[in-house]
Amino acid sequence: MAFEKEIKQRRTFAIISHPDAGKTTLTEKLLLFGGAIHIAGAVKSNKIKKTATSDFMEIEKQRGISVATSVMGFDYKQRKINILDTPGHKDFAEDTYRTLTAVDSVIVVIDVAKGIEEQTKKLTEVCRMRNTPIIVFINKMDRDGKDPFELLDEIEEMLSIKVRPLAWPIGMGHNFKGVYNLFFKSLRLFNPEHEKIPPAISFSNILDTEIDSHIGTTAAETLRDEVELVETVYPEFDIDLYKNAEIAPVFFGSALYNFGVQEILDTFIEIAPSPSSSKTLERIVSPYEEKFSGFVFKIHANMDPNHRDRIAFVKICSGRFERNKNYYHVRLKKQMKFANPTSFIAEKKEIVEYAYAGDIIGLYDSGNFKIGDTLTEGEQMHYTGIPSFSPEMFRYIENGDPMKFKQLSKGIDQLMDEGVAQLFTNEFNGRKIIGTVGALQFEVIEYRLKHEYGATCKYEPIHLYKACWFASKNKAQLDDFKKRKYQNLAKDKQKRDVFLADSVFALEMAQQNFPDIQFYFTSEF
Ligand code: G4P
Repeated sequence: MAFEKEIKQRRTFAIISHPDAGKTTLTEKLLLFGGAIHIAGAVKSNKIKKTATSDFMEIEKQRGISVATSVMGFDYKQRKINILDTPGHKDFAEDTYRTLTAVDSVIVVIDVAKGIEEQTKKLTEVCRMRNTPIIVFINKMDRDGKDPFELLDEIEEMLSIKVRPLAWPIGMGHNFKGVYNLFFKSLRLFNPEHEKIPPAISFSNILDTEIDSHIGTTAAETLRDEVELVETVYPEFDIDLYKNAEIAPVFFGSALYNFGVQEILDTFIEIAPSPSSSKTLERIVSPYEEKFSGFVFKIHANMDPNHRDRIAFVKICSGRFERNKNYYHVRLKKQMKFANPTSFIAEKKEIVEYAYAGDIIGLYDSGNFKIGDTLTEGEQMHYTGIPSFSPEMFRYIENGDPMKFKQLSKGIDQLMDEGVAQLFTNEFNGRKIIGTVGALQFEVIEYRLKHEYGATCKYEPIHLYKACWFASKNKAQLDDFKKRKYQNLAKDKQKRDVFLADSVFALEMAQQNFPDIQFYFTSEF
């Protein structure tokens, strides 16, 4: 097959972390080492600064920047690398979850002093659900932090994955001397003063006394003891276990000082998986199939309120995409042609003629796409695996201007299609409820309804703990549940049943009293 080679070269991945662990810095350094940019600071941070939470325009501006940095593609050592950026702000966590459906692997960045933090845990859980292979980068070794062995235990325990260090740090903080690469048996020395990292020094084995001359006898002895312990405690690195997401190789470094970045990049291109098969409702699709197919995993509204254009990000799952060719939009049952599909090369957007499985393309859209939509060459199939998560913040949404009812419903409809939040209709009183994972989304919705649709919304408080989907094969129990809980039932946009639990207790009681009913916290079940 002509394009098989192209697909095999693709490595599409995301870097995830808790805010401030160093995701942006590592991303930039990977681009720098990969030759995609030439100076540090060229890639604007996609992170929404904490201070900006009340300043919505600032957030929009930053989100605007993030369109350009949403996907960063570059070529490195015969590989075509696509880094998918993910917003760091926790209120945009849903965006990140969805982006994770479009990657073949991830790098998790952990701050050596902080260890596993809340967002790291949540995002890794999403990867674990999907069996996405994980490489761990323990960052900020130039600062004092947790003991490496303790940290590895913490990762195993909190992220529920076995680890295998492929490099080992020599000291940390002021005493950080460098890392020993267990795979290549080489030493890379750290010197914060050096712009350029000196090349690695290779040894036949860890007992080589020349190591002492580089880092001193005491540090060398400690290194030998620790490496011996690593080799006995942790199993040999097995690439298949990594690809099956059963084991995560671990690296140590300091992204700020460019340290450990080359190691992780070189190992990444050796071991990270190329595009693999994807699931549709109907069948499994191989990336090497002749015919193009893909799905929309993210929609980004444009900044310009005069053009309600949006960019739909499509992950190509099979074959080759061609510009100006007719493709089939499965949900709308219509043929569509794209004159200006864009690809993303470092910080530039460019029109592409062709793109291959593993690539991400941006399609200009005037309202045809929803998150999760499938494009094919005519086949009726639907990609699965883009879950919505149980929201935890809720408000009733009402029309604030009776003359603009139509605008309001259209606006809400489109914003929900973009995945800004979720809409539920209470079955008891017919009122509409917006559910989000973060408080910021309410501001986003209000602002965008006004500026893009000319509509005014009003929020009213509602006291709810969680909205979760439910189903059961036991019809009698299901009917009984619906009868008793009729005030707390809603439908989502796809008309599926949702239970609005007003407290942890209410949810637990429902689970206890209706054992044959399954309650789901993601919409994929
Ligand atoms: P994020 O995208 O994960 O949120 O983190 P980001 O890369 O923005 O890094 C957060 C802060 O940590 C930044 O400092 C960054 O310079 C610093 N940092 C990243 N990697 C390292 C490292 O290896 N060692 C040390 N010592 N610091 C590191 P900041 O002061 O918040 O921002 P800035 O003003 O430097 O941009």
